[in-house]
Amino acid sequence: MLTISTASEINVLSKQVRRTGKRIGFVPTMGALHQGHLSLVRAARAQSDVVIVSIFVNPTQFGPKEDFSKYPRTLELDGVLLAEEEVDYVLTPSSAEMYAKDATTWVTVEGITDRLDGRSRPGHFRGVSTVVAKLFHIVQPDLAFFGQKDAAQVAIIRKMVRDLDFDVQIVVCPTVREADGLAMSSRNAYLNAEQRKQATVLHRSLLHVQTLAGQGEKSANALSAAGRRVITEEPSVKLDYFEIVAPDTLEPVADTSVGALVAVAAYVGETRLIDNIVLPANLPGKPHH
Ligand code: PAJ
Repeated sequence: MLTISTASEINVLSKQVRRTGKRIGFVPTMGALHQGHLSLVRAARAQSDVVIVSIFVNPTQFGPKEDFSKYPRTLELDGVLLAEEEVDYVLTPSSAEMYAKDATTWVTVEGITDRLDGRSRPGHFRGVSTVVAKLFHIVQPDLAFFGQKDAAQVAIIRKMVRDLDFDVQIVVCPTVREADGLAMSSRNAYLNAEQRKQATVLHRSLLHVQTLAGQGEKSANALSAAGRRVITEEPSVKLDYFEIVAPDTLEPVADTSVGALVAVAAYVGETRLIDNIVLPANLPGKPHH
């Protein structure tokens, strides 16, 4: 495994690899790697010849009051984990390497970025789409791997790839969870023991909705109200949003029988956590009694 910190070096290597007809699988990350990240790396390893992982805590996707400076950075351990997964190249650029001082060009995916996390975190997805576009140009992957855990991010990246004709196939991998259901996240490291227990309410709210949907409830209003109620049962958890939307547009749906994304975001203390599940289309409902 080779660690590379400049865009030009990885770009040269990538071009060499592509000339030999090998498929490049790319996993963009912000480091502080956990099993969720590693599941993407394993999918990349299985589906591509050469695996490139980037570790870059992207300043442009953090709001001024967000956690950029305290975001966990565990580069040494990350390197050990990636070597164990037989990653070929790790790209670890500095902010100065990624952004020219006078850079003023942004990739903005409009509309869809005003929903879910985009509504709560103005400018966040502009930072994400810009850095992912840049990384795609630098790495030139055949395949790029993203986690379903960040469902809005997936929808936005897919739209950017389609709208701007990026020559890359987006592969989405399922959410990896702790034993008690909490979705793995680098931000879980912020939680103290008590908050760690409270944090399971996000997944519990989603499971409740899944159960009701399985019993035949199709009304998005009824389902999201039921999900919100579960969150309020944990008084120290502050709900940001609980929404039922179309997975590709993130527009609210009224009836979930067409399939829907159930997404939740909430603050546990200062820590903002997100989670989601997908309700499949035409879920066979039990008859009502
Ligand atoms: P980061 O939060 O480090 O996540 C990197 C990738 O890992 C994302 O695709 C994310 O969805 C995925 N991931 C995180 N937790 C996961 C889990 N529990 N199960 C499955 N996949 C999980 O997302 C970002 O970084 C950044 O926005 C980035 C795309 C790198 C751009 O800066």
